[in-house]
Amino acid sequence: MKSLSQLTSLCILLSSAICVSSLATHCRNVPGSNGYPSVAAWSAFNASISGRLVDVVPSAEFCARLPGGACTDAQWGSALFRNGIPGSMEQVNWEQGYDQSPPSLCFQNQTTLCGQGNVPVYSVEAESVADVQAAIKFATTNNLRLVIKSSGHDQLGRSTAPGALLLRTTALRNISFTDNFYVGDNNMGPAVTFGSGMPGHTVYKEGATKGRIVTAGAAATVCPGGGYLQGTGHSPLSPLLGLAADNALEFQIVVASGELLTVNEDSHPDLFFALRGGGAGSWGVLISATVKTFPTFNLTQSIITLGIANDTAASALATVHARHIHMLDSVRGGQYYYLEKAAGSTVFWIDTYLPHTTPDEAETILKPFLDEALNVEGVEMISSESTYADVNDILYDDDDSVGFYLYMGSRLIPESAYDTPETVGEVYEGLLDAGSQIILGHIIAGGQVAENANISSAVHPAWRTAKTHLILVNEFTDAPSPADVFTIHRQFQDIQLPIVEKISGPNAGSYSNEADLLEPNFQTTFFGPNYAKLSAIKSMYDPEDLFIVGAGVGSERWDQWGICRV
Ligand SMILES: Cc1cc2nc3c(=O)[nH]c(=O)nc-3n(C[C@H](O)[C@H](O)[C@H](O)COP(=O)(O)OP(=O)(O)OC[C@H]3O[C@@H](n4cnc5c(N)ncnc54)[C@H](O)[C@@H]3O)c2cc1C
Ligand SMILES: *[C@@H]1O[C@H](CO)[C@@H](O)[C@H](O)[C@H]1NC(C)=O
Ligand SMILES: *[C@@H]1O[C@H](CO)[C@@H](O)[C@H](O)[C@H]1NC(C)=O
Ligand SMILES: *[C@@H]1O[C@H](CO)[C@@H](O)[C@H](O)[C@H]1NC(C)=O
Ligand SMILES: *[C@@H]1O[C@H](CO)[C@@H](O)[C@H](O)[C@H]1NC(C)=O
Ligand SMILES: *[C@@H]1O[C@H](CO)[C@@H](O)[C@H](O)[C@H]1NC(C)=O
Ligand SMILES: *[C@@H]1O[C@H](CO)[C@@H](O)[C@H](O)[C@H]1NC(C)=O
Repeated sequence: MKSLSQLTSLCILLSSAICVSSLATHCRNVPGSNGYPSVAAWSAFNASISGRLVDVVPSAEFCARLPGGACTDAQWGSALFRNGIPGSMEQVNWEQGYDQSPPSLCFQNQTTLCGQGNVPVYSVEAESVADVQAAIKFATTNNLRLVIKSSGHDQLGRSTAPGALLLRTTALRNISFTDNFYVGDNNMGPAVTFGSGMPGHTVYKEGATKGRIVTAGAAATVCPGGGYLQGTGHSPLSPLLGLAADNALEFQIVVASGELLTVNEDSHPDLFFALRGGGAGSWGVLISATVKTFPTFNLTQSIITLGIANDTAASALATVHARHIHMLDSVRGGQYYYLEKAAGSTVFWIDTYLPHTTPDEAETILKPFLDEALNVEGVEMISSESTYADVNDILYDDDDSVGFYLYMGSRLIPESAYDTPETVGEVYEGLLDAGSQIILGHIIAGGQVAENANISSAVHPAWRTAKTHLILVNEFTDAPSPADVFTIHRQFQDIQLPIVEKISGPNAGSYSNEADLLEPNFQTTFFGPNYAKLSAIKSMYDPEDLFIVGAGVGSERWDQWGICRV
């Protein structure tokens, strides 16, 4: 248990503005505020939840405390290893207190400037519904900032907050398959129910034994029943099977009142609407999710790496790719196409998923694009390989590579943008001229995503007319000055977005799970026409704003970290 003096020094490390203003009633209690629980109160709370309260420190500090005094690089970059560290964010920049005074910075093997940063103070490592209910009650009674985490993958830092009580659902990993899932008297057919802390890879692994597949993430350690589904959830199978939110049937959730609710199209249909696309972390604590399963099938995964001589070649290649954007339509395939520029070697990496397709058929499908691409001056083949197997085996990965420092921004690109492929090439040229290093493209819309347009959910309607999702990643290394970090974080809004708008249009949507926390009009950018309805639903289920995340529903009433009302 942290001592009172440790808590007070924590308060000094958090920006003093947070601690002072938190004395006012419109702020949450953080270490140092009058209403903050005493050490004895924390201890009693710990005893009431079977000792499942733990101290939380930044991941680098956690590593420094291990025998040997450090994590290996393999541990530092492993999503599975980091899952065992309550304070860890997969993108380490979210742990850092760049805006604190003095800055609280905690880097791998360099912990001298370590404070608490934006890492919560304590965590409830929930193993049951009762643990979740106890944490909600303790946070409410003591006016604490409560933050929820399952994997810590969040790209907008929404699963961490300074001075907060963390509630980790990482251990909620039950899973069960059924052939007949009932919502009331309606048999919805085959489905799987998994805990909110269940990583996607286990769903794929278990699915393989049952001959069933679900729409879950390409990154196997993302938790499909955590933030993923609430944000919408895309998969390389989405053109074939729809968005993850489209396939959700039911949720078990503990809401702010402490009640455990079963939420589906009959029971709390308003909350069911919100939990499918209305944004991660804004509604309550998910215990589990039930989603449709589909029969498995074989699929060819093709991975092609092209080398690119210079920006001119990159831009011409982007035009060629845009001209062939419909190359996968006949098989409803998905594709990740990433341009990564590094000193001396720029590559275009194309990872394609072709359902019900043999490698020979896949080659035929990709050939017209590839022939034209290799005709571009300055583009050459580096490698090409393909794998043919059961879809669960293809999507399964035992771990993901994380532990980076980066910010991102994104737009859903409408199918109509591809009527003029040259404009896509010009946008790539503009982005590269402006210093962009990593441009990610996803073909994960169209097909069933478009056909599901009549489903009534909070999924942003821009998904239904989109063809791709474009993400700009601004990566950096671990020790730049806070001023440089702020500049890097502004890069998407200030420099890249005006260029991207040439193809997305000025009012395009963005996928709230892979996006920029600094979106000025997040209400419409992330939630489109649904924001007013989502706000009304939130006020019914969370009238006191217990569940606030950055750029989430209701967050306009709070400061960046959800500590004080504005
Ligand atoms: C390497 C990588 C690959 C990715 N690949 C994909 C992809 O293929 N498709 C895709 O759609 N997205 C993908 N994403 C984005 C992903 O959807 C988001 O990062 C998502 O927020 C992760 O949810 P999580 O619960 O695993 O993460 P967390 O960081 O634990 O949580 C994310 C958000 O959900 C909330 N949350 C977590 N658990 C709960 C709970 N039990 N109850 C209520 N709220 C909760 C948190 O408060 C936070 O707001 C990827 C991200 C990464 C880092
Ligand atoms: C909570 O109790 C458990 C078991 O008694 C103990 O191991 C743990 O350190 C306690 N947590 C804190 C934050 O002190
Ligand atoms: C950090 O220290 C560990 C253990 O000594 C070492 O394996 C690793 O390479 C170091 N990493 C960096 C980035 O210095
Ligand atoms: C997980 O399953 C076990 C065994 O069926 C059950 O006792 C437990 O309550 C379940 N946990 C959750 C969080 O649903
Ligand atoms: C780009 O590379 C190609 C192939 O090497 C070369 O022909 C072309 O002149 C280069 N363009 C520029 C602007 O450097
Ligand atoms: C799927 O691929 C595997 C491995 O190549 C093969 O053994 C199996 O027959 C294929 N199944 C179908 C239905 O094509
Ligand atoms: C949507 O439309 C399809 C056919 O176009 C229909 O089968 C389905 O039931 C509709 N779904 C809803 C939720 O209305």
